[in-house]
Amino acid sequence: MRGSRDRRDTLAVDGGTPVRSGRPWPDWPQVAAGAEEELRSVLYSGRWAISSPHRRELAEQRFARRFAGYVGTRHCVPTDHGSSALLIALESLGLEYGGIVLVPALTWTASATAVFRAGLVPLLVDADPATGTMDAEALDFSSTPAAVLVVHWACRMADVPTISRAASSHGAVVIEDAAQAHGARWQGRAAGSLALLGCFSMQHSKVLTCGEGGAVVTNDDALAPRLEELRADSRRYHGAARDGELDLAETATVMGANHCLDEFGAALLCAQLDLLEAQHDVRNRNYQVLSRLLADVPGVRLLRPAPEQDRLSLYEVPIVFDPLPRETGNAWVADALSAELGLRVYTPRTPLHRSALLRPWTRPALAALSDRFVALHRDRAFPGAEYLAAHSVLFHHSAFLGTEQDMADITAAVGKVAGVIAAGRSPRG
Ligand SMILES: Cc1ncc(COP(=O)(O)O)c(C=O)c1O
Repeated sequence: MRGSRDRRDTLAVDGGTPVRSGRPWPDWPQVAAGAEEELRSVLYSGRWAISSPHRRELAEQRFARRFAGYVGTRHCVPTDHGSSALLIALESLGLEYGGIVLVPALTWTASATAVFRAGLVPLLVDADPATGTMDAEALDFSSTPAAVLVVHWACRMADVPTISRAASSHGAVVIEDAAQAHGARWQGRAAGSLALLGCFSMQHSKVLTCGEGGAVVTNDDALAPRLEELRADSRRYHGAARDGELDLAETATVMGANHCLDEFGAALLCAQLDLLEAQHDVRNRNYQVLSRLLADVPGVRLLRPAPEQDRLSLYEVPIVFDPLPRETGNAWVADALSAELGLRVYTPRTPLHRSALLRPWTRPALAALSDRFVALHRDRAFPGAEYLAAHSVLFHHSAFLGTEQDMADITAAVGKVAGVIAAGRSPRG
């Protein structure tokens, strides 16, 4: 009987005692030791943008060198956003207008809006409900796509080598959207370095951030100068500027636009990069603890990483509630967990085939691409993406920057909520 149940068994959303209260979770972002010094040095440098006259080495060039080294590619072109990184990566390929690009249905809207902005049409691909990523075996090349945009979703890498083999046998190029995967590794190779081009976001919530920023990496010596022009109004570094002269020359082999990262962002990224490996270690250690603890909680699971993924980069960590009555819904689970933990737990975004954010028809310039997009998706279903969007809840990676006790708290809260669902005591509409 409800009235006789201990307050600790009653969910916090129903007025019970929360699993955790009064103990804060780690803050995000965490400021690296050298961040103030880096920002101050830009502040008084007289160079706040890469288009300013030469005085000293740009923080942008220093960051590009260091991030290319981190990912293991020859080139890195920083940008103002991850969305711009995707845009210039797609533009650099010189694909024919209206060409099709395979894009997963389960990703942030920018993966698809960048395709439209580049004059191409996204064709959505379902997610594997075990992994959350594109299933290499299930890719349908019958639409003769010009490219495949592979997304490493949440904390799970997609199988880029297998997808690349399939794509190249159909004449399609592969771009990695590694916006959520800085430092993840597949058989020792970093996310972003496995395909022709890799794109990153350095927006606030990402594991490496300067507020708003991005980067494209590649080993392709011909694409790198095109990427530079595409992000700096058709200009690129000429490498011979003396004090007072511009570093950028009007090379203009391809028309670009301004997607440049500012000097404050680049300097901050240099400092934050120093912190990243240590943060990965803490998060991944805690994730192992959580995996062990959650194995004893019936009805919930973490996404299964591929055996080839030898390092995780946690971004948003999904916990999947498999037995979940439709009328209960994962929004209720997220609210119940948030109340137990004093931490924001949230649901994945709506899959792109029905996302309110993906509305190309609201842009007259995209009319032809939009019509094709609508026609292509009329009879398609995305059961894998729908399943994960309806059954999982997400934890931001900052929750993994603390202690083993935090993992025990998450497990206790998940167990409490899963227990209520199993007992048939969750809301049923
Ligand atoms: C998978 C993915 N692609 C692209 C982006 C876009 O990056 P930005 O917000 O920096 O433009 C994001 C941002 O969340 C993302 O998660």
